Amino acid sequence: MALTQSREITAASRLDNVRYAIRDLASVADEVIAQGHKVLPLNVGDPLNFDFQTPPHIIEAVYKAMRDGRNGYAPSPGVPEALEAIRGEAARKGIRTVRDVFVTSGASEAVDVCLAALVNPGEDLLTPSPDYPLYSAVLCKLGIRLNTYDLNEDDQWQPELADITRKLTPRTRGIVLINPNNPTGSLCTRQMLEQIAELARRHNLIVFSDEIYDKLILDFDSQKNETPHLAFAAVAPDVPCVTFGGMSKNYLVPGWRIGWGIVSGDAAAVKAYSEGVHRLLRARLCANHPEQYGIKPALEGPQDHLLEVRRKLRSRRDLTQKWCESTARVSCVAPRGAFYAYPKIDIPESDEIFVKELIRQKHVMVVHGSGFGQKPGTQHFRIVFLPDEATLAKAYAAIAEFLRERYGN
Ligand SMILES: Cc1ncc(COP(=O)(O)O)c(C=O)c1O
Repeated sequence: MALTQSREITAASRLDNVRYAIRDLASVADEVIAQGHKVLPLNVGDPLNFDFQTPPHIIEAVYKAMRDGRNGYAPSPGVPEALEAIRGEAARKGIRTVRDVFVTSGASEAVDVCLAALVNPGEDLLTPSPDYPLYSAVLCKLGIRLNTYDLNEDDQWQPELADITRKLTPRTRGIVLINPNNPTGSLCTRQMLEQIAELARRHNLIVFSDEIYDKLILDFDSQKNETPHLAFAAVAPDVPCVTFGGMSKNYLVPGWRIGWGIVSGDAAAVKAYSEGVHRLLRARLCANHPEQYGIKPALEGPQDHLLEVRRKLRSRRDLTQKWCESTARVSCVAPRGAFYAYPKIDIPESDEIFVKELIRQKHVMVVHGSGFGQKPGTQHFRIVFLPDEATLAKAYAAIAEFLRERYGN
């Protein structure tokens, strides 16, 4: 007689703290959708949910690669023409000490691989709070204790150096910077990058600089056609660094899952680590193959779509900021890059309850600040301001009404 297993297969306990608030709210939204309502998703940073289109020449290049039979496994680090294009991009970013580049399944995989290749049990990595939750999820998965440093809301969300210094331990291996930042939309100043570089030099740290939004700087001067984004690795060419980048946001193809890492710094200092990264890259075979043929045309071809994307985002950011400034209980440091705003709210209950009730009552979906981390006693929510102005205005009117009805003025 066939045996049936009757005991529950439990998930590993190290996953207990793995949360991804951005998608975890989906069950509340499902309730509302089941009642026949439409939910306005201001929670997921996917431009293709709104009026943004992938540049056609990139699609053509990938289509051609598929037709040309590039459908087998690719080399583990990536296809040569893509690697060469990423090196070119690194040079344009002012990174002069490139030691290695590799292609991954989204910047997400680069984060996963690079963190796994670095930290041993008992060691730690400084991550920002608030942060993009992938970093804490990967560290939880690796069984690494979280060690977060504050971003200072009173200083345009710059990293709080005193807090970083306080949190450094003899077992700290590196610092994560997210610049432009998700969820705050802030940009690190040159002085801040220099100060972090100095700390890294003094304490023998590697810096992971997540620059996936580096072409979405909203105060961009289109007349001069120049970007004010400063790559950490350009400011600190000697410091061991992996710069994370990718196609998802700048080139409007999040579903292709194409990202990369650029290793820079003193050659001798990064050699062994870089070899460790490659061991992991080989173990997972390769990143998506045909999509890698979109990298060169994206990075080297026409960049016209970026002017349009930034124009739309600037106008939507301005509308968002105006709303924050004119709404009781809401205040916000103006975002300067990416497509997120992270307003503070003055309410007598948790921001998680606020967000869940907002979905239930007004069918607008934002993400609670506690899903990203924030200073105790403060409450925030993250807005994705990708929708067009009319949709945003409707959403903001609904949020303002909700605030009034639930908390008074
Ligand atoms: C700061 C940051 N890093 C990395 C990612 C993941 O990017 P990818 O789609 O390339 O995996 C995101 C996605 O939202 C992000 O906001």
